[in-house]
Amino acid sequence: MGRWLRGFALATAAALCGGCGQSDGRPVVRFIVQPDAGGGYRAVVEKFALARPDILVEMVEGPASTDSREEMYIGAFMAGDSPYDVVLMDVIWVPKFAAQGWLLPLDDRFPSQARDAFLPGDVRAGIWDGRCYRVPLRSDAGMLYYRSDLVPDPPATFEALAARARGLKTADRGGFVFQGRQYEGLVCAFLEVLWGHGGDVLDDSGAVVLDSPEGIRALTWLAGLVGDGAPEGVTTYQEEEARAAFQEGRAVFMRNWPYAWAKLQEDGSPVKGKVGIVPMVHAEGRESAATLGGWGFGISRTAKFPDAAWAFIEFATAPEQQKLLNARNGAIPTRRALFEDPEILARHPHYPELFRVLLAARPRPVHPQYSRISQSLQRHLSAALVKSETPEEAIRKAAGEIRGIVGK
Ligand code: GLC
Repeated sequence: MGRWLRGFALATAAALCGGCGQSDGRPVVRFIVQPDAGGGYRAVVEKFALARPDILVEMVEGPASTDSREEMYIGAFMAGDSPYDVVLMDVIWVPKFAAQGWLLPLDDRFPSQARDAFLPGDVRAGIWDGRCYRVPLRSDAGMLYYRSDLVPDPPATFEALAARARGLKTADRGGFVFQGRQYEGLVCAFLEVLWGHGGDVLDDSGAVVLDSPEGIRALTWLAGLVGDGAPEGVTTYQEEEARAAFQEGRAVFMRNWPYAWAKLQEDGSPVKGKVGIVPMVHAEGRESAATLGGWGFGISRTAKFPDAAWAFIEFATAPEQQKLLNARNGAIPTRRALFEDPEILARHPHYPELFRVLLAARPRPVHPQYSRISQSLQRHLSAALVKSETPEEAIRKAAGEIRGIVGK
């Protein structure tokens, strides 16, 4: 509860609201969003205010980490009368939020014909127990960025990536940077290494298979890079720290989400025109795999104005608003047609390839207890990166804990 109170205080302090608490009798729709660095979310809310002056939308900028924003929503749901009518959800939150009964099903408002316009993985991530709870706003899949001026042909395997990272690092430039801090982003980065080695966390029946030889090889590869092909400091990096290091020329390779592309190419960026982006590498004889990320809107079960909430969700996920978020924040659209939009393609020539990566991106374990599974992974992956557990120990301990959670 203490953690929630802190989150809520932060939310209140950061609230951006037209009339600041005074709704003049208008329905109020409130939601939490990531830090809005490009101003795209604010622009969408402002456009909506012009289109629908009868509804007041309050956008609360939360902390950068998905885990912290999830805690804010959970705290509000557990307290009973959540102040958040619209729930801007990570793909991984839906099973838990839906299973707890915190969300309104959206099947009538968002029927299957409407869903066809969106990327299928993003739609699937909004379904729990046969009902749909989330409208996709922006998609995500992990990618490998590289300095095209230093690396004319990007590596395809883990071995080659490690060799180049070690070979190209200098006193003031690391080789490979990624999200190495103990949080959800580390799980996303690790899963790509795990899947690329042919391993997995759960098998198709839901049983834990993490502690396979592939699982141990995957973590041995990643942990072995820290302090060598990857800078020591990577164990404190979230997305933005990795992006800053790469953008400032302090890394040759980076694992990150596609949003970073737009920032790397901005005028004044030291690496503008010197960046390539490809699917993550894989082990010899295996396939690359990207972790599916992404965000979408649901409606809280306790929303006082579900129709007003829906009006905002429909507006915000429409093509023009997705284009605005793409232009301002580098957010990846979830509407398939936008991957053929000439304006978007002019800015992002690599989108046809990104589209293929998004179609093949793999979900994290889909389970109502996902956050506990993830916390166990976060703890032990991080312990291996900072070398307080060996990779084998870390994998075995995490697998044991996850068996306790899923019961298989
Ligand atoms: C991105 C992804 C999200 C993921 C998070 C991890 O925001 O879209 O799915 O959980 O990164 O840091």
